[in-house]
Amino acid sequence: MPDQAVSLGRSLAEKRRQAGGGADELPTLILEMGLAAKILTREIRRAALVGNLGLAGEQNPSGDTQKKLDVYSNGVVVRAFTDTGLVAAIVSEEMEELRIISCSPEAEYLLCVDPLDGSSNTDINGAVGTIFSFYRRGVSGACIDCEGELRESAELVAAGYVLYGPSTVLVYNMGDAVDAFTLDDDVGEFLLSHEKIRCPDRGSYYSANLGRYHGWDQNVRAYADHVIEPDPASGRPYSLRYSGALAADLHRVLLEGGIYLYPADEDYPEGKLRLLYECAPLAFVVEAAGGRASTGRGRVLHLRAESPHQRSPLAIGSSDEVATFERFVATRGS
Ligand code: AHG
Ligand code: MN
Ligand code: MN
Repeated sequence: MPDQAVSLGRSLAEKRRQAGGGADELPTLILEMGLAAKILTREIRRAALVGNLGLAGEQNPSGDTQKKLDVYSNGVVVRAFTDTGLVAAIVSEEMEELRIISCSPEAEYLLCVDPLDGSSNTDINGAVGTIFSFYRRGVSGACIDCEGELRESAELVAAGYVLYGPSTVLVYNMGDAVDAFTLDDDVGEFLLSHEKIRCPDRGSYYSANLGRYHGWDQNVRAYADHVIEPDPASGRPYSLRYSGALAADLHRVLLEGGIYLYPADEDYPEGKLRLLYECAPLAFVVEAAGGRASTGRGRVLHLRAESPHQRSPLAIGSSDEVATFERFVATRGS
């Protein structure tokens, strides 16, 4: 361990001080996410030993059969943020409707969360994640209007993800820079491990479910053919990396460059991934690190959600790679 370890708590306190103190409660919320992530780390690690793998038997609002860990993770996150008193409402992948938490004036934020991302990996000891974002509430201030605010006036102010891999890493952007904190299991703290992350402009990895290739538009297929066409001068062919957990695949692209794609296809005409708790939070992180996040036709962060579980196509990662993908989409027609 380095001599001068910086904990998540100290880093957030320092950011709060630099911002002049004040009533901005985002540091408290990020810290709470850290606590939820520690609890989830413990449960994910021991799940095979305590009967917490496999299916719960219910379907979530997206029609996926919930895993036991999906249900558990949702419970941990909802409980953690309910107890802060700072959250007015929560949109979760695992809950049908936006859930109103508090009508108090202190409850200034809306949380959108994918409590367990990549849950098909749970039973094979693969990487999983948690994806989160916080919106500051808009002007109405009335609890009943939370969904309307999310649609019209709420502002995305912080977002990030937790990756439960060989170690647990929490990555977030509160509007300034992207930092990553790695959980030191012995100390029991998230410690700063990657400061002011920059996503390389180019990369030689691509990440997509190629099993869906024949359902894609011809322009998307042309791009997938392009990246594996040998051209040593431009670093092609690119190497394929795909884990089935967006948070894990995105983390590689963020740190090492490349592109993650989940385009629309015949089964998912709007794309598979959900705007509020998958695409937009990761777009907020990647753009702050100098990368790009696109639907293929425009910025993800320009989209407004009309409903809690709205889907969107996603191309995200190195700015040059995502721009190239956009050119294929724009110029080759479908
Ligand atoms: P979730 O487990 O939260 O439903 O998310 C799964 C998502 C994402 O993590 C991943 O990139 C993608 O779905 C995998 O989809 P395919 O199985 O179609 O590749
Ligand atoms: Mn997910
Ligand atoms: Mn999920």
